[in-house]
Amino acid sequence: MKKILVTGGAGYIGSHTVVALQEAGFQPVIVDDFSNSRESVLEGLRAILGTEVPVHRVDCNDKAAFRGVFEAEGEVAGVIHFAAFKAVGESVQKPLAYFQNNVGSLLVLLELMQEFGVNNLVFSSSCTVYGVPDALPVTEETPTKPASSPYGRTKQMCEDILRDLSQAPGNEVKSILLRYFNPIGAHPSGKIGELPLGVPNNLVPFVTQTAAGWREELTVYGTDYDTPDGSCVRDYIYVGDLARAHVVAVQRQLDGKAADVETFNVGTGQGNTVLEVVKTFEKVTGQPLRYRTGPRRAGDVPAIYADATRAAEVLGFRTEVGLEEALATAWRWQQNLTNE
Ligand code: NAD
Ligand code: WQD
Repeated sequence: MKKILVTGGAGYIGSHTVVALQEAGFQPVIVDDFSNSRESVLEGLRAILGTEVPVHRVDCNDKAAFRGVFEAEGEVAGVIHFAAFKAVGESVQKPLAYFQNNVGSLLVLLELMQEFGVNNLVFSSSCTVYGVPDALPVTEETPTKPASSPYGRTKQMCEDILRDLSQAPGNEVKSILLRYFNPIGAHPSGKIGELPLGVPNNLVPFVTQTAAGWREELTVYGTDYDTPDGSCVRDYIYVGDLARAHVVAVQRQLDGKAADVETFNVGTGQGNTVLEVVKTFEKVTGQPLRYRTGPRRAGDVPAIYADATRAAEVLGFRTEVGLEEALATAWRWQQNLTNE
């Protein structure tokens, strides 16, 4: 079985990708410092997969410890690099921590990949690199705009690093940059899912926590945008579909089909408003959700959704799970959580 190192594999998207990798016949190996995940995710993975996934509790910025992972694991076919901090607001408060962790860990990883001759990397990028786009939907050729947060800038910088590396003489590392739109939902078993620590910033965890009575009510940030119902438009992609995109990307590299650096939007190609998400959630759960409309949230992009053509044509990747089903899984997961 081909080994794939999954940095951040104990996190939200990483854990679902670990499942998808194992189900596709790979041996995922998690490298995570648990700075934004809990040990309980490993129990969930064990329950789903019926086997133990190897885990290294290592900070990817700690080069000596990370080197120990490469030494211990021997032949590694590829790496998926999820490990990063991702809270937009926090990145404004602690920019240095974000540059250190997100950019620093990529540099350490790339040096180790070169040292150990591991040449396939799939990198977690984000639609945040597009900023406020001039036209919709965004294609991979849509120009990136100045990032609205240090977090967004770390993703742009990491992308630049990977493009520069691809031009360096003698470079053998090939990268696939996946620009995720808004991942939502959980594994159908309800055994792994999104685990925001504290008050969630993201819409869907806030919705499910409100429905569960953990939060008083949801505030819909802005209903005066130039969108069909005035609330923001996003491209909500089911996390299981997103996980599958990683397996397809890894396989493309192992099949020798990938160019030195490739970029793909990973979204559904469809936009939904915040109020549509609320209404769909109410339909799925059969109960009204407490919400009120509030002012716009600083830094929010009014509308963004993917042109998903390149991923379909080049990777053969298409999403399969729609908004309703994705929200149903998020709710199932929420109902299994205890309010700590
Ligand atoms: P997450 O926080 O759930 O997962 C990240 C994991 O990385 C966590 O388990 C954390 O403990 C680990 N980690 C962080 N820094 C580390 C380090 N230095 N060494 C080892 N482990 C470390 O986040 P997620 O939502 O699963 O996001 C995964 C990746 O996808 C991130 O790079 C994120 O920026 C990117 N992304 C996420 C979204 C989203 O909305 N969730 C959208 C676009 C891009
Ligand atoms: C979605 C919509 C909010 C909470 C963020 C990052 C982005 C990417 C994905 C990593 C927006 C509205 C939210 C609430 C609301 N992450 N909302 N009430 O902002 O699209 O993207 O996560 O790369 O970089 O910026 O996601 O889930 O925070 O918000 O009305 O309590 O829901 O205004 O329109 P966002 P989100």
